[in-house]
Amino acid sequence: MKPAFSRALLASALALPLLAMAGDFSPYVNGQGHISRPTEVRDRFVHLGSWAVLDEKSPARGLHDVYTEKTSAEHYRKTGQFPDGATLVKEIRKLETGAMTTGDPVVWGSDAAVWFVMVKDAKGRFSGNPLWADGWGWALFKADAPATNAAVSYEADCKGCHVPAAKTDRVFIQGYPTLTAR
Ligand code: HEC
Repeated sequence: MKPAFSRALLASALALPLLAMAGDFSPYVNGQGHISRPTEVRDRFVHLGSWAVLDEKSPARGLHDVYTEKTSAEHYRKTGQFPDGATLVKEIRKLETGAMTTGDPVVWGSDAAVWFVMVKDAKGRFSGNPLWADGWGWALFKADAPATNAAVSYEADCKGCHVPAAKTDRVFIQGYPTLTAR
């Protein structure tokens, strides 16, 4: 009896730090794989590139700005890969259109409406969690509830649209000049 009890005790003592460590690779991920929205993007991250979706029928209409950590961009330029724990944030802002001294029409982004977030997981930490697959954790935050991940599953909410970028780790790198070695 005694050895079995000790083994169980040892197992639970080991499990605790393991659980805490599961989220240690990213400040935006907890031990259960819950992703929170990085709020210091404009101060701490570098800008990778922008997309302007002008299609009036598209729910994605807006100015899309994409950001990552400076160190993640440096790592990508050196290796062609995002490092474990890299964060990609796509901020979508509503479009304004008008005449400016530069031209007419000119389109620019106003208030942020939505943030899409991807966190690189090179180790398959959260298998079974529907928001972790194909090497990333996937999340979506809306301006009216910016602390809540509104995505339910990668399969239903993200996967299909990111298939065209499957060869580049699900990232549309053609829009990100910051990732090109200079
Ligand atoms: C309607 C198609 C569509 C859906 C649905 C979609 N994406 Fe994307 N995503 C794109 C496209 C296309 C781009 C790049 C061009 C753009 O933004 O217009 C992109 C870019 C991104 C980027 C910037 C980095 C990159 O991969 O280029 C992130 C982050 C992102 N998506 C996360 C998500 C997450 C998380 C979900 C699910 C909650 C999701 N996306 C759902 C089509 C989609």
